[in-house]
Amino acid sequence: MQSRREFHAKLIGSAVTFALIETLWSRDLFAADAKPTIGKWLAELVSMSNDLKGQKLTDLQFQTKMEDLYKRVDLPALCALVKLDEIEKRKLPENGASSIGFDLSKVDGLPASIGFGKQVFGCAKGRSIVPHGHANMCTGFIILKGKWSGKHYDRVETLKDHYVIKPTIDRTFGPGELSTISDHKDNIHWFKAESDSAYIFNVHVIGYDKTIKESSGRLYLDPVGEKLAGGLVKAPKMTSADCHRKYG
Ligand SMILES: [Fe+2]
Repeated sequence: MQSRREFHAKLIGSAVTFALIETLWSRDLFAADAKPTIGKWLAELVSMSNDLKGQKLTDLQFQTKMEDLYKRVDLPALCALVKLDEIEKRKLPENGASSIGFDLSKVDGLPASIGFGKQVFGCAKGRSIVPHGHANMCTGFIILKGKWSGKHYDRVETLKDHYVIKPTIDRTFGPGELSTISDHKDNIHWFKAESDSAYIFNVHVIGYDKTIKESSGRLYLDPVGEKLAGGLVKAPKMTSADCHRKYG
């Protein structure tokens, strides 16, 4: 039998432990521990990009892996890496989005061939990364700053002068939130800035599927087209200029 004093001591001990765990949890310290350093995070991104190009992953498998990795990003470290504070000093365009490169050559441990293209997009309020799809490309966004309205569509069919598309995602995105694209899921995206300025981190892997013969440039389209049966939409093809005139 334990004494009343021992019993109370144990009870207080476990209460203190519990309070400590709860405090650490609420301050997100465990989550922070689970996030890899930005160098290690990039190395994982390089590795999966090369696996996609080497056909060790399908585009859908890559998309899942990329989303898992994107969820574990240390956002302040990523903003520092791309020098977002310097990017923010540039004037944002009156139409469409700016595209700004950044340097990863100084990051320790990355191979010379990283296997992906990269950029930061910036938009002023009300301006858009205009609606477009991609062929033979996987790409993923992480919101760095600001609020965006983001829409995605599956490209169900490609015809001579239009695409048949299906809306899949339509919601607001904030810092740290992400979205990805492949030829087989959520192929078309369209992001409109809802805050005074808004920035997105982008990585894209081109030419991963030798069976796709279309070139991997942007496929501009008008997603606000004629409604078809089954929730599908007839989306006319557009030139970049027309798409920017209407949606930029
Ligand atoms: Fe894109």
